[in-house]
Amino acid sequence: MTFTRRNLIALAATVSVGASLAGLGAPLQARAADDTVKIGFIEPMTGPFASTGIEALAGAKQYIADHGDTVAGKKIQLIVKDDTGSPNDTKRIAQELVVNEGANVLMGFGLTPLAFATAPIATQAKVPMIVTSAATSSITEKSPYATRTSFTLPQAASVMGQWAAKNGIKSVVTLVSDYAPGKDAQDWFVKTFEKNGGKVKEQLTVPLKNPDFSPFLQRVADDKPDAVFVFVPAGVGSQFMKQFKERGLSDAGIKLIGTGDVVDDQILNDMGDVALGVVSAHHYTAALQTDANQTFVKAFEKANNGMRPNFMAVGAYDGMAMVYHALEKTNGDASGPKLMEAIKGLKWESPRGPVMIDPKTRDIVQNIYIDKTQKVDGQLYNVPIETVKDVKDPAKAAK
Ligand code: DHB
Repeated sequence: MTFTRRNLIALAATVSVGASLAGLGAPLQARAADDTVKIGFIEPMTGPFASTGIEALAGAKQYIADHGDTVAGKKIQLIVKDDTGSPNDTKRIAQELVVNEGANVLMGFGLTPLAFATAPIATQAKVPMIVTSAATSSITEKSPYATRTSFTLPQAASVMGQWAAKNGIKSVVTLVSDYAPGKDAQDWFVKTFEKNGGKVKEQLTVPLKNPDFSPFLQRVADDKPDAVFVFVPAGVGSQFMKQFKERGLSDAGIKLIGTGDVVDDQILNDMGDVALGVVSAHHYTAALQTDANQTFVKAFEKANNGMRPNFMAVGAYDGMAMVYHALEKTNGDASGPKLMEAIKGLKWESPRGPVMIDPKTRDIVQNIYIDKTQKVDGQLYNVPIETVKDVKDPAKAAK
């Protein structure tokens, strides 16, 4: 039995889309055989996590601006959708993109729950799902079609845990957003910090939505640790820093360390001097002094009214790089299984440094930088002070 596009859509409209997708993997593949490769790009473009979508979309567009919109004879078309950060919307949009629009690739996913919601769709439709933003380790285990160009919290937090213990920090309180990436960050910081001789005094979790950090910061002040280790998602660092300052924690001599999310490059410059001296571990900083990165930063700022690229921008820039390199390998064949095979083991030079897609886990292997927030020419930057090369996701290595 074969399906035309029209009765495929009719079918999708009358039965649950999950059920229709399960039986229609092959016809969905067949529909990819024209000269356009469609990338369904789903991010929160409005709502509390809009900063992630705005950076990511600008990053994806920058890649097209730098490399053209044609690869291996195929025209690249971005179909941009706003899920407002709601998992039900992400899932519905992903279904519509695959079934109605014939998307060859799904890309984006600004928060872990949005990626989790989409993984079954990617599996059923056999469409690659390139996670450019979300960073919980287990996402890539939710579908054989999931792969990633962002990072994992265990990658960054484990490097921070080791660095802190080896650089005079003896006691820490952890403070993370109360959802999957926060748990990953907390668990891997604690594990690596304690293994290297550090003592964790308390582990605090803060609500993800509308967080009031004050009562938690009071707990930190009472505990008097050498440092507080923080993970909050991109964009939320401004609120955190404001309350960190108001509670007088920096005046009390409590150091601030974290994964780089809390000092993300888009909002860093507005934080003021309270951010000076923060030490963070991350896979990207706009201050990386390589030609590739400085070219990227200049072009991005020029195209976006001076907005600085952050790790969400580079994640999506590399999501596009992944699609282009995979299409070059398949000579333009955009069928899901072919693209996934091509993605495994890909290597390229990103603005963040060299990257590789682990063929076993489909996760990204990359440098993690220890950054210290400093003033450079009157502006705040996360300046790299150490590099740990080619870091794999330690959570998967541990399994
Ligand atoms: C996730 C979201 C973020 O904004 C971030 O900085 C890290 C992780 C997430 O939900 O996976």
